[in-house]
Amino acid sequence: MKETRDKVKHLRRDFDRDTLTEAQTPENPLELFGEWLDEALESEIKDPNAFVLSTYANGEVDSRVVLIREFSEEGIQFFTNYGSQKGKELAENPQAAINFFWADLDRQIRIKARIEKLDEAISDDYFNSRPRESQIGAWASQQSQTLGSREELEKRVEEYAAQFEGKEVPRPEFWGGYLAKVYAYEFWQGRESRLHDRIVYESKDGNWLKKRLYP
Ligand SMILES: Cc1cc2nc3c(=O)[nH]c(=O)nc-3n(C[C@H](O)[C@H](O)[C@H](O)COP(=O)(O)O)c2cc1C
Repeated sequence: MKETRDKVKHLRRDFDRDTLTEAQTPENPLELFGEWLDEALESEIKDPNAFVLSTYANGEVDSRVVLIREFSEEGIQFFTNYGSQKGKELAENPQAAINFFWADLDRQIRIKARIEKLDEAISDDYFNSRPRESQIGAWASQQSQTLGSREELEKRVEEYAAQFEGKEVPRPEFWGGYLAKVYAYEFWQGRESRLHDRIVYESKDGNWLKKRLYP
């Protein structure tokens, strides 16, 4: 343990891969978001589509990793169990923070968004595109509920597999997508000597206002 504490205290690295100048930031932050996501997808990074989703409800902040599945001017889409902890928190307070961190690119994107449920047709399309095992898993998992044992989960998987044998697996009503409607972005590019570049965009009356922050 002491060794780990020493290691973590002294671990350092330099950030010197890239820059983020004003000239590199378009009027519309979605373009930059798309560029950075694409570079992450094209790199060798594992789970480049993963982001931390933070929620706030009943006086507590909570966070977990989920996967981006689609994005557009409308917002960022992700999919989950509506009855999960995050689902309950979002029903209580549809306000969220999103954080993408791509260590190999020395980049972070922080996002503030209002969350709403996606249209059922979009959730159906996405659910239908998933591997059958994941579809059955969605039925079997009462995500974030207490589970007595691993065996109990495996038994539920077997039961649903039997129930849907030879049939298409329909999307459970309790499973689907959310749309994160973004109103603020911060693009962070690591730089030398901790003098990082930080460019923030904030939505104001239908326009994006841009500013630079101290690192
Ligand atoms: C790389 C990664 C990707 C994940 N993607 C998803 C996802 O897209 N949807 C999801 O519901 N959970 C996903 N999870 C699991 C969540 O982090 C979390 O454990 C789960 O959604 C329950 O969270 P909750 O109790 O806050 O609702 C992922 C976890 C990891 C580590």
